[in-house]
Amino acid sequence: MVKKMVVNPYEVSGEVDYEKLIKDFGTTKISKDIYKKLSNCHPLIRRELYFSHRDFDKWLKNYEEGKKVSVITGRGPSEKMHIGHLVPFLIAKSLQDNFGCEVFIPISDDEKFYVKEGLSQEDTILFSRENILDIIALGFDPKKTFIFEDFVYTDIYRYAAKIAKRITYSTAKSAFGLTPEKNIGWSFYPAMQAAHILFPQFFRGKHLSVVPVGIDQDPFIRLTRDISEHKEIGFLKPCALHSKFLPSLYGDAKMSSSDSLGNNLIYLTDDEKTVKNKINKYAFSGGGATLEEHKKNGGNTQIDVCFQYLKYIFEEDDEKLEEIKKDYESGKMLTGELKKYTIEKINNFLEKHRKKRKEAENIFDEFILKNK
Ligand code: TRP
Repeated sequence: MVKKMVVNPYEVSGEVDYEKLIKDFGTTKISKDIYKKLSNCHPLIRRELYFSHRDFDKWLKNYEEGKKVSVITGRGPSEKMHIGHLVPFLIAKSLQDNFGCEVFIPISDDEKFYVKEGLSQEDTILFSRENILDIIALGFDPKKTFIFEDFVYTDIYRYAAKIAKRITYSTAKSAFGLTPEKNIGWSFYPAMQAAHILFPQFFRGKHLSVVPVGIDQDPFIRLTRDISEHKEIGFLKPCALHSKFLPSLYGDAKMSSSDSLGNNLIYLTDDEKTVKNKINKYAFSGGGATLEEHKKNGGNTQIDVCFQYLKYIFEEDDEKLEEIKKDYESGKMLTGELKKYTIEKINNFLEKHRKKRKEAENIFDEFILKNK
């Protein structure tokens, strides 16, 4: 039996039907016109891992009219980062490069502390520092990028309180599946994330800000849009860009940390040997069952995990990607060859990342927002 689809900030399971999510959530599919305007952006957008939006056309229009626009996306520091966690930050960086805008990055250490049993407050603070280094290493502009942690940048609390006052318990309950046994941190946190989403406007005044984020986070955006124009808040509704999930090495819908050994995903700290081993051993392949079969019928790039990783992150060159697709689908390129190429590309990326992450230690403070 097919497992029922569940997609919300705290659970993603079953076969994910993205068209249905657009309908259920009431979002808008990204149009050809919008993709065209983003044709110089990161492959994650160009190659359509980002598939849905809210008012992003307005954001682009405001930019074209010379009005201020910005980007905000966050990170819940529950563990060290893996490549799936990079998705919203690669887009934020790409929007900063292409539109010259400011980027705001809240780190919800409070959220992960509340929702993860067994995670101590000290651990979330350590993971925050580690995760922020990974984020800075992506190359954000220190003059235009503002990073803050909820436990440290406590100024955020008064904004969250303003918002909390406008959200009823029953709204939060239905949007986030709050159940009686949950600690009350869960109930307040949505006000905090709404404060993150409106933070660019609290900080810089009323303007359009876009939240690039996995579609599972949309309930936070809906909630924020519903209260943002209230007369005591007086902001514009935030825009959103929603991504599909990057598959785990096993080929399931979402790269999450469900596998206790971490064999289903690639951490940014994995060394060359570990990457090689994980890809060779665990990466779900779309290749034929036998060599003969593969040579005869070719491989399936739609389900092959290595191909997905190349397509969305590691192969920027459109022509090269097209060549791989053709050769793999015709059976000329074998699974072993595709894996070998992917291992090289990932290891190249990670080697550069390690260097940039080291450098990030020296500029860390330039990114961190201080309490007033
Ligand atoms: N809740 C997000 C997660 O678990 C992280 C996050 C915190 C976030 N604040 C945000 C995402 C604001 C988008 C916008 O991944």
